Amino acid sequence: MEYAVRGPLVIRASEIEKELQEGVKKPFKEVIKANIGDCHAMGQVPITFIRQVLALVAYPELMDDPRFPSDVKSRARDILDGCKGGSVGSYSDSPGIELIRRHVAQYIEKRDGIHSNFSDVILCAGASEGIKSILKMLIKDIDGKRPGVMIPIPQYPLYSAALAEFNMEQIGYYLNEEQHWALDICELERAITEAKKICSPRAIVIINPGNPTGQVLTRKNIEDIIKFAHKEKLFIFADEVYQDNVYAEGSKFYSFKKVLSEMGLPYSAMELASFMSCSKGYMGECGLRGGYSEVINMDPDVKAMLFKSISAMLCPTVLGQTVMDCIANPPQPGEPSYEKYKEEKSAVLKSLAERAKMVADTFNSIEGMSCNPVQGAMYAFPQMKLPQKAIEKAKSLGQCPSVFYAFQLLENTGICIVPGAGFGQKPGTYHFRTTILPQPAKLKSMLQTLKDFHIKFMQEYK
Ligand SMILES: Cc1ncc(COP(=O)(O)O)c(C=O)c1O
Repeated sequence: MEYAVRGPLVIRASEIEKELQEGVKKPFKEVIKANIGDCHAMGQVPITFIRQVLALVAYPELMDDPRFPSDVKSRARDILDGCKGGSVGSYSDSPGIELIRRHVAQYIEKRDGIHSNFSDVILCAGASEGIKSILKMLIKDIDGKRPGVMIPIPQYPLYSAALAEFNMEQIGYYLNEEQHWALDICELERAITEAKKICSPRAIVIINPGNPTGQVLTRKNIEDIIKFAHKEKLFIFADEVYQDNVYAEGSKFYSFKKVLSEMGLPYSAMELASFMSCSKGYMGECGLRGGYSEVINMDPDVKAMLFKSISAMLCPTVLGQTVMDCIANPPQPGEPSYEKYKEEKSAVLKSLAERAKMVADTFNSIEGMSCNPVQGAMYAFPQMKLPQKAIEKAKSLGQCPSVFYAFQLLENTGICIVPGAGFGQKPGTYHFRTTILPQPAKLKSMLQTLKDFHIKFMQEYK
């Protein structure tokens, strides 16, 4: 089991940080952790409304404090009313506080224009937990073959790690780098045909907007994927945690549920789970661990098992559920918190959009590097044409060339990125993933340093 975004490179980055603190001389002053989508760690400021509601539910004595607006107070009161004993310190029902599940269903309904049933909404401690709890339901050999799950390559390594943990078969399908990392139906056909020889394909994972690839799928592409999943009787995992992070002109987020529902029968009766998180978007509350899954059309017996399985975990964190409530039920026009909330939200998203462009433009200005536009999410995944000498050097060290490059970058500049090998890449191609999360001035200087390093590296191994 591997999990590259917290792998050996990141461990080395933390060691270097300690060495710097101890006064060891390096050619740089700080380590920049561009390896993980951890917004607040990179200087993003929390949304005031969310933190105010959290403060009040955690310490209700502040309820009389005039610094808190009335809409914050009423949200906090409603949540506390939904808590057993009126305290966020009590366990909630296993799928979450009913009021918050209802708010989430309303949020989904408003987003998609399609009915959402609160009993299909399961709150979870971050999307990771929700994804794993549903993936688990597929652990069962069929006709003597292990269950297989189709995942994109490059992928977010939660999937490869969870499949390894659950002893399930990973069926990788390559995203098409030449077509802005779109999903190619021929490639899905190729991957599943190969996989059927050794496993029983049960599900397909789609990450939209993509991590690490930053693409936003078109509606047509989503329709084709749904048709493919229907033909192959696959359960759909729609990882939609970046649904608020869409930047490119002409790109628009369509949820799988919306498209599938609007396609009508037989597609609208397909089994689907979609995932959302409080860690991404404009809120970036990674450490509070909030998320939800919406599970539709699930076989009732299986759904009963799913609920039993999650009940053995007691409940997701109530503070994380509180954040999800703030996201699902944000201040409305006319409420006292509305203007500030709107301003803060759009400032974060606007800045992310500018950084997305800055990153892709810089990589495309470097000789031997190419990067698809970052249409959404929080990452860029450029391809590098590495010289043969560098490839040979890496191989002599028993490393993938993308890992060798990433270590060299870290040791020489303090910049911590994740090598393409951690996400999967087509054989013979080399990439890395960087987040777009460092604040603008830091990102600009990081990109300049990276560019200078790359030129030197290419010169050295020419
Ligand atoms: C595509 C994708 N899915 C799921 C997650 C998990 O998010 P969390 O567990 O913090 O909600 C992440 C985190 O980076 C992600 O990028």
